[in-house]
Amino acid sequence: MTAVEYPLLATRLTARYGMDVPIVLAPMNQVSDARLAQAVTNAGGLGFLGGGYGDEAWLERELSRLAGDDAVGCGFITWRLADRPQLLDLVLDHHPAAVILSFGDPRPLAEKVHAAGVPVWCQVCDLEQARQAMDAGADVIVAQGGESGGHGTAARSTLTLVPEVVDLVHGRAPGTLVVAAGGIADGRGLAASLCLGADGVLVGTRFWAAEEAPTAPEARARAIAAGCGDTVRSTVYDVVREYDWQASYDARMLRNDFTSRWHGSEDELRSRLAEAQSDVRTATADGDFSVANVFIGEGIGLVHDIAPAAAILHQMATSASEILGRLGSADR
Ligand SMILES: Cc1cc2nc3c(=O)[nH]c(=O)nc-3n(C[C@H](O)[C@H](O)[C@H](O)COP(=O)(O)O)c2cc1C
Repeated sequence: MTAVEYPLLATRLTARYGMDVPIVLAPMNQVSDARLAQAVTNAGGLGFLGGGYGDEAWLERELSRLAGDDAVGCGFITWRLADRPQLLDLVLDHHPAAVILSFGDPRPLAEKVHAAGVPVWCQVCDLEQARQAMDAGADVIVAQGGESGGHGTAARSTLTLVPEVVDLVHGRAPGTLVVAAGGIADGRGLAASLCLGADGVLVGTRFWAAEEAPTAPEARARAIAAGCGDTVRSTVYDVVREYDWQASYDARMLRNDFTSRWHGSEDELRSRLAEAQSDVRTATADGDFSVANVFIGEGIGLVHDIAPAAAILHQMATSASEILGRLGSADR
């Protein structure tokens, strides 16, 4: 794949990061591993490791699996990384293509990333967070709508957040790029995002269903059978994992027996925590996703198969190019 094949998809993002297409793998916690990230980069996009909550052994292993010359970045959950600064050092020693800081004030950590000569990307859920990202000197702002899989605030939808962030950035930090995230699972979403003024897209859910993703077969089967209405935003698994997320955050996941039982009854869940933790542990070990968790976004309604990451990327790029080509001609 070369840029010549997709001239309509050439953006400031592709130029700056040497990509063929403006498609970025979301830093999904421990789902975006070295194999998946390299597959996306090698196909002409940009892969990120999902450093998530900062499991040091996982991070060391995945970093060691990266081929030295592949451009791959790494993402972290900012408020967790603040307690584990050594993990940022570990990643910076590997000269990542960029570091994504999501969910929390990026300013203290961004300074350290920039000092290492590495671009800082900030994933934001609203305009206030976008302003904070600009204060941190973000090179790229990822504007995440509530359609997204995994954590966020659901304060906004992708369709309105992206152009507002584009306008905000244009006025204050025109050199900063904007990438759209949330519900982008095919070429239509990519084309729409570019029309909204984004320089590219960050894709989680669609790549979660990539052949290379280390996702459990039982979870894949459930997800493929699901429609966009089969997801819910909830904190129930954060309660179970005792993760200290700020109250404004929740996560989008597949509905199942566990979410039906406990979503809306979080206080009761807390009072029966040990039992629930044991249930989830057992279900996860058994591959029983009627109780174990599957973080996934609304875009799952557009995902009908498991495919190699390169095929997913190529299909998105081809379809988006066709749409943009039609829009640019009189033949509509
Ligand atoms: C399984 C899964 C895990 C995720 N883990 C993280 C994470 O650790 N850090 C992060 O910044 N975002 C995480 N996200 C959110 C993504 O970065 C991104 O915002 C989202 O996937 C985009 O929406 P989409 O899923 O509709 O493509 C996760 C998303 C999913 C689906």
